[in-house]
Amino acid sequence: MPAQFDVVVIGTGPGGYVCAIKAAQLGLKTAVVEKLPNHGGTCVNVGCIPSKALLHATEMYAEAQHNFAKLGIEVSGVSVSLEKLMAHKAQTVEQNVKGLDFLMKKNKIEVFRGTGRIAGAGKVVVTAADGSEQTVETKNIVIATGSEVAGIPGVNVEFDEKAIVTSTGALSLEKVPGKLVVVGGGVIGLELGSVWARLGAEVTVVEYLDTILGGMDGEIAKQFQRLLTKQGFTFKLGAKVTAVQRTGNGASVTFEPVKGGKAETIEADVVLVATGRKPYTKGLGLEEAGIEVDERGRVKVDRHLRTNVPGVYAIGDVVAGPMLAHKAEEEGVAVAEIIAGQAGHVNYDVIPGVVYTSPEVAAVGKTEEELKKAGIEYNVGKFPFSANGRARSMLQTEGLVKVLADKKTDRVLGVHILGFGAGEMIHEAAVLMEFGGSSEDLARTCHAHPTMSEAVKEAALATFFKPIHS
Ligand code: FAD
Ligand code: NAI
Repeated sequence: MPAQFDVVVIGTGPGGYVCAIKAAQLGLKTAVVEKLPNHGGTCVNVGCIPSKALLHATEMYAEAQHNFAKLGIEVSGVSVSLEKLMAHKAQTVEQNVKGLDFLMKKNKIEVFRGTGRIAGAGKVVVTAADGSEQTVETKNIVIATGSEVAGIPGVNVEFDEKAIVTSTGALSLEKVPGKLVVVGGGVIGLELGSVWARLGAEVTVVEYLDTILGGMDGEIAKQFQRLLTKQGFTFKLGAKVTAVQRTGNGASVTFEPVKGGKAETIEADVVLVATGRKPYTKGLGLEEAGIEVDERGRVKVDRHLRTNVPGVYAIGDVVAGPMLAHKAEEEGVAVAEIIAGQAGHVNYDVIPGVVYTSPEVAAVGKTEEELKKAGIEYNVGKFPFSANGRARSMLQTEGLVKVLADKKTDRVLGVHILGFGAGEMIHEAAVLMEFGGSSEDLARTCHAHPTMSEAVKEAALATFFKPIHS
């Protein structure tokens, strides 16, 4: 019997749904299997989208409280309705979910509701919520099952999503906690910590490393930490968390200095544990299907995103690489193209990362630390937003742009931005790097005035000569 489908994608997060749409657009007969009622995965339902709704709303609230008066706008009695804020979040998610339902229909993608299990090459068994099973036959299978909360290795944390929460609970707290302790000074900790800090919580971040945002450029991370401290954050760095426990009124966190010393316990109304995520492959039947995983449980793939079993591919959080929605999407597109016989490819050197705090942090390419470690000689150009006219007009003068370019060839190797709108500005650097551009290319490109982006041009200029405005 011929296979029913050309491609069956298991999981409809940003990796899976994008892969399915692209495959359908390329003329492949495509189906998806999703175990949850909504498409969109972590990103749309409990990740990128709801967190950005809360970040935007609370940033506006903070602006109204702290900056409006400086701009000459007099407002009084600014207050927040947590209920309405959460309604805005829910509506944003709903609109995105509806959009995905529409796209599935528009592209004639067959949707199977249930948990997908790979019963060998070309066979996916779908178990519906009522326990009924059906087998779907396909030429190709794409695993896009994403990730789940990792917890703290070696520490038993009992999440009740009320006093001890994952990011999912932290997106839906019923009231503003007086004290919020965040375990992990990574992206989730700082974004969701910002949401609740702006709403009035006293936020303490306990981080194992001696820096926040480990992996980001060290200079940028340090300046960012200073800005967050000004916003009221308290940081306990170089601190290893050894226990998270429920107490009468909330929860407590015990940690000890990584370098040795006395343990300390702090009490909180709510503890958010944000210590990373791990691949999710439960119930997929990887072992029976003979699909290999690495030492961290990630599905092993080659550079064409193929697993060791012919006709089975894997993309997104479930494979190695940064756990980012847009990385998952790029891989989804690449796999669809590869299956359709085209030259699908992901450029892992140019995947931007954005932290949607205030100000934002954005980066693409290598950090100074990475270049030093790799023994690559480079030039650095920097430009502070305090010297940018548009930034002054908006009272958004915090932060800087930093451009790293190869010393010999001037090719841009990394761009790091701390500042208002960094997450939008980073893309001119990404496009430049995709085309192998130099810092001189960037510096000689006319930028509209007055814009924050002029700081990017000036930082590029500073790598090989002198900026004009500082
Ligand atoms: P997922 O989105 O996790 O989707 C996997 C899907 O597979 C799910 O729908 C799941 O139900 C389904 N599934 C799993 N197993 C099966 C099975 N056996 N059968 C059927 N279905 C199955 N990234 C960014 O780039 N920008 C951000 O701003 C950002 N913010 C985030 C904020 C938070 C709070 C969190 C937690 C994450 C955030 N991320 C962000 C990360 C982003 O959400 C992930 O990188 C992205 O969702 C990964 O996409 P994916 O398709 O690989 O997996
Ligand atoms: P993360 O990896 O960004 O940060 C986790 C932090 O916890 C690290 O700094 C780590 O050193 C620390 N940590 C680990 N164990 C610890 C311990 N025992 N004690 C103290 N600290 C400890 O992971 P996070 O924030 O949970 O995010 C998960 C994923 O979601 C990330 O990979 C990220 O890419 C993605 N994400 C992306 C966003 C974005 O792009 N804006 C937003 C939110 C999440």
